Amino acid sequence: MDLFSPIDLGDLHLANRVVMAPLTRVRSGAEGVPGPLVAEHYAQRASVGLIITEGVYPGADSRGYFGQPGIVTDAQEAGWRRVADAVHAEGGTIAMQLMHAGRVSHPDLTESGRTLAPSAVAIDGEVHTQHGKARHVEPHALTEAELAVVRDEFVAAAQRAVRAGFDGVELHAANGYLLHQFLSPASNVRTDGWGGSPEARARFVIEVAQAVSAAIGGGRVGIRISPAHNIQDVAETDADETRATYLALLDGIRPLGLAYVSVLHADPAGPLVQELRGHVDAGLVVNSGFGRQTDREEAVALLERAHADAVAVGRAVIANPDLVERWRREAPENAPRPEHFYSDGAEGYTDYPRLSA
Ligand SMILES: Cc1cc2nc3c(=O)[nH]c(=O)nc-3n(C[C@H](O)[C@H](O)[C@H](O)COP(=O)(O)O)c2cc1C
Repeated sequence: MDLFSPIDLGDLHLANRVVMAPLTRVRSGAEGVPGPLVAEHYAQRASVGLIITEGVYPGADSRGYFGQPGIVTDAQEAGWRRVADAVHAEGGTIAMQLMHAGRVSHPDLTESGRTLAPSAVAIDGEVHTQHGKARHVEPHALTEAELAVVRDEFVAAAQRAVRAGFDGVELHAANGYLLHQFLSPASNVRTDGWGGSPEARARFVIEVAQAVSAAIGGGRVGIRISPAHNIQDVAETDADETRATYLALLDGIRPLGLAYVSVLHADPAGPLVQELRGHVDAGLVVNSGFGRQTDREEAVALLERAHADAVAVGRAVIANPDLVERWRREAPENAPRPEHFYSDGAEGYTDYPRLSA
């Protein structure tokens, strides 16, 4: 398959198979409202086949980072409408990543002053809040009634995203955030129906995917997973357990007719991801993680060898608003400036030059 050929993933129409990976950039202020600068940033990158936004918080207790945008209030929805309109005006397609931080958050970042998780197991480490660095706290273990509330927040957020003009949403079940915390036996030690076995750990993620699909249509829903990605204390070190959990998850969501499953794994062409792929009818988007920056050669090879339907590309898209054109022409690229990944303002955000400049 050719990286530059179009593809439909569910109801999403991609002009090419370069997907802008979700990239948190914390430029939406204390209120979590994306402003004109954020709209400009995404519109600049509209020539990728699909933009996945940065992780957006779906509820008052799910914010993970100061400056992260939300999709909870009318003002946030209006901000996102500006983003969707700007991307569509450039001919792009855009989905919103819904990210509940769970225990990765901190009481200073949430509305209720609680952080939520499957179980009361803290991360051993530190978090950045608006007041500087702080130790992670022991999270509140969600009750059965509260699970329904969180699920409904995902649904309401997805509905707001669609109202704001988004083409779809992506459920963030990767990288140690809430939904991943349910999947991992290190962070989920529940003994009720949502923990204790691979099937039970997969249950809440399946329930969220079912509810969101019922609300907006499965063809507009993607999900991101990162099996065996041992980050933020969600160790998935037992290969059999990991395999069983993700097979249970994928079999559970299979009937929903999702647009795509996005997998972050160091070896997308390797046995685990390719076995999981056998349980996916939706499109498969892959990304090989943080170890090495995705480049043209890797993306072309993954597509040519048919290991995936599309490739999620992170840092190269940060640095090159016209990455698809550069890759088509095998032109030189700007290098990313990581010191501005999580800073504020236009510098290192909307000021990367295009080829024509
Ligand atoms: C600055 C930055 C922010 C990120 N934010 C998110 C995020 O909000 N959600 C997510 O799923 N992954 C996030 N990631 C991971 C990327 O989507 C991607 O998997 C990673 O950058 C590796 O791909 P690359 O080598 O193409 O950059 C982030 C990565 C970076 C560098």
